[in-house]
Amino acid sequence: MLHRISLVVLLCMLASPAQGVFLEPDQSLKIPVGWTNTGRVAPSDEVTLTFALKQQHVNKLKDLVGRVSNPKSPQYGHFLSLDEVMSLVQPSGNTLSTVRSWLERHGVRECETVQTRDFLHCRTSANIAERLLPGSEFHRFMKGGESVVRSSTPYTVSEELASHIDFVGGLHRFPSQRKVLSRAWDKHRPRRADFHLGVTPSILRERYNLSASDIGAHPNNSQACAQFLEQYFHPADLSEFMQLFGRGFLHHSKVDQVVGQQGGGRAGLEASLDVEYIMSTGANISTWVFSNQGRHESQEPFLEWMMLLSNMSSLPWVHTVSYGDDEDSLSVAFMQRINVEFMKAAARGLTVLFASGDDGAGCKEVAKGKNIFRPSFPAS
Ligand SMILES: *[C@@H]1O[C@H](CO)[C@@H](O)[C@H](O)[C@H]1NC(C)=O
Ligand SMILES: *[C@@H]1O[C@H](CO)[C@@H](O)[C@H](O)[C@H]1NC(C)=O
Ligand SMILES: *[C@@H]1O[C@H](CO)[C@@H](O)[C@H](O)[C@H]1NC(C)=O
Ligand SMILES: *[C@@H]1O[C@H](CO)[C@@H](O)[C@H](O)[C@H]1NC(C)=O
Repeated sequence: MLHRISLVVLLCMLASPAQGVFLEPDQSLKIPVGWTNTGRVAPSDEVTLTFALKQQHVNKLKDLVGRVSNPKSPQYGHFLSLDEVMSLVQPSGNTLSTVRSWLERHGVRECETVQTRDFLHCRTSANIAERLLPGSEFHRFMKGGESVVRSSTPYTVSEELASHIDFVGGLHRFPSQRKVLSRAWDKHRPRRADFHLGVTPSILRERYNLSASDIGAHPNNSQACAQFLEQYFHPADLSEFMQLFGRGFLHHSKVDQVVGQQGGGRAGLEASLDVEYIMSTGANISTWVFSNQGRHESQEPFLEWMMLLSNMSSLPWVHTVSYGDDEDSLSVAFMQRINVEFMKAAARGLTVLFASGDDGAGCKEVAKGKNIFRPSFPAS
């Protein structure tokens, strides 16, 4: 009798999600302040999942990044093309076919890949996603007018798949927070009374000791900023801004390329700030804007942008991003994979700059009156 009971228990365990592998066992499931769980989504509701496929030769990539970046190395400046990066890191044939056939078996058919073949971006129903990733359960979360679909519980994958996937995106991470905020625009501060144009491009250029001749002169110079969270700049605002504040140095007044779609409606304050200031400090330099258009509610905007870099062979050399996450809201598997993505960018000679925020070492209250430092990712 005892024997039979334990056999039943064993069979149940095999079939339960607990038998799967947690790819991100340390991923926080905490709902960020301001978001409310409004309940489970309908089984047919669409979700978007991003599969970060296991790459090859990551150690070689790391060595290579060191060599092309080190002025003392004979390989200094010998950057790789996107094709060459692909040849190095693309997943093995075994990984590609194992993941593909797993997705097909479950009826996941709408997948897109990137040039380096190490991401799969798939659309499916919540119902299929929950069967594909045992343990997951998709709910809709709201904050103001924003809505995202996320799993309130951790996902697993079968043991067969665990060695082929670094992590699955679109389940847990909420849209990143802006890391640079202008205090002058803080809602809780009186506006007009203490509002003054204290910091203009000419003030910044003076502080950084940039003379009129400290502008981009080489035609191959290029720079970009990335805008997430449905923030847009307005070309007419930019042009007016440059007319008002761009005196004393040669500059461009137009963005050369917008990747993605600019939304309609009002320009975002912070999106405008980014593009106006990159173009007045990096003056006379061709500038692109990466825009995260009409965001689908299950996407992770930062991850989308990261994938875009792996899908475009020709990119500006310098990228700035004014967003970041609290490190403790992210899993180690996610951060390590993003670090590899940065190496892929560095191997191509790209420079990526992230806002470090306004809070120094950061602060997290762990108990009443007890605080610890709170690093932000990717900046620190
Ligand atoms: C990558 O680019 C190709 C070709 O431009 C496109 O078909 C594909 O959808 C892109 N992948 C993603 C994930 O957007
Ligand atoms: C500022 O730049 C000028 C010339 O462009 C230089 O002579 C001077 O030393 C610089 N000052 C500082 C503090 O770097
Ligand atoms: C501005 O940049 C262009 C290349 O894009 C260059 O040809 C030109 O000389 C630069 N202007 C100055 C004053 O350096
Ligand atoms: C500038 O770009 C052109 C075209 O991509 C390239 O042929 C040339 O080598 C580049 N020059 C430098 C100095 O990087």
